[in-house]
Amino acid sequence: EAIEKGGFDHFMLKEIFEQPRSIADSMRGRVQAQEGLLQLGGLRDYLDKLAKSKRIVIIGCGTSWHAGLVAEYIFEELARIPVEVEYASEFRYRNPIIKEGDIVIAISQSGETADTLAAIELAKSKGATIFGVCNVVGSSIARATHAGAFTHAGPEIGVASTKAFTAQVTVLTLMALAAAHRKGTLSESLFRQLLTELESIPAKVEQVLQAADKIKEIAYIFTYARNFIYLGRGLNFPVALEGALKLKEISYIHAEGYPAAEMKHGPIALIDEDMPVVVIATQDSSYEKVVSNIQEVKARKGRVIAIVTEGDSHLPGLVDFTIEIPRVHEILVPLVSVVPLQLLSYYIAVMRGRNVDQPRNLAKSVTVE
Ligand code: G6P
Repeated sequence: EAIEKGGFDHFMLKEIFEQPRSIADSMRGRVQAQEGLLQLGGLRDYLDKLAKSKRIVIIGCGTSWHAGLVAEYIFEELARIPVEVEYASEFRYRNPIIKEGDIVIAISQSGETADTLAAIELAKSKGATIFGVCNVVGSSIARATHAGAFTHAGPEIGVASTKAFTAQVTVLTLMALAAAHRKGTLSESLFRQLLTELESIPAKVEQVLQAADKIKEIAYIFTYARNFIYLGRGLNFPVALEGALKLKEISYIHAEGYPAAEMKHGPIALIDEDMPVVVIATQDSSYEKVVSNIQEVKARKGRVIAIVTEGDSHLPGLVDFTIEIPRVHEILVPLVSVVPLQLLSYYIAVMRGRNVDQPRNLAKSVTVE
């Protein structure tokens, strides 16, 4: 097992550090930015159908559901197709409306999650075309779908999903780009720019990983916090949910993810000098709004850890701790902004002496209801 961990203390840490490679693997043979080429072999015969679809319903559980929420923003922004994201366990029990021309995208790392599989069978019986985004080739979900794209992240052993998430988001981004390009809702220049930026993501994730020691120091300070709030807006809202989930799963600290503006409708009541608030505050279209949300937290003495764009000169003076990430196109930010949150939860769990790779009560794959 020590050999399998490749020198890392835990599979989870190894998998976090594998992300530059796993993200590159999920694009391998699919993206050639210089030539302006994007190919998804498993969707070739279905790309028209996707581009012409009236609605996309995305289903998944856990971290895969969070990847679906990121994809919702990207599909709607680039391809102008309305998207709904559903927990598979809810979708399957509420007589969902599926119309002709609807596409269902099922996301699953393992390809064996019982609720997701059952939701697929239900959607299929109602006439939907189902695409899969799975990591495990030959899995039940991969076989149950009409078409799809594998994530090629390699085996994920740690129960808390890390590299599978970033691979899912990468592949879903490729699907959205392909649909938007085919549909004509995306200019050739932005299409090429995003392909080029995608190719640069592995190096940017590598850069974030170099901040591991700084993140460890912050984790040390907050090891015994009893609660955490995670805030983000836009594409960073699902990242806030994912950051909170990671912390809950492996450290057993209560954590909630919220859209930053929604904080004033409840969570703000929890904020005092004992409440750590992780805010993803990258310099994108919602930056100014997030800064004012941070001011609201600071006014109530909350302790803010902000994920900021490198070179941000304003936030370090306003918050307690900053973690810098490189600048990327707004559409691709989650691929980079989630990484420090994975590391933060990992180090806190280790410092609390938790069983990081096999947290209590959790299973890698939930094959029963
Ligand atoms: C379990 C795992 C999570 C995972 C979820 C969905 O809860 O612990 O890490 O996100 O199942 O699994 P799937 O294999 O369908 O992505």
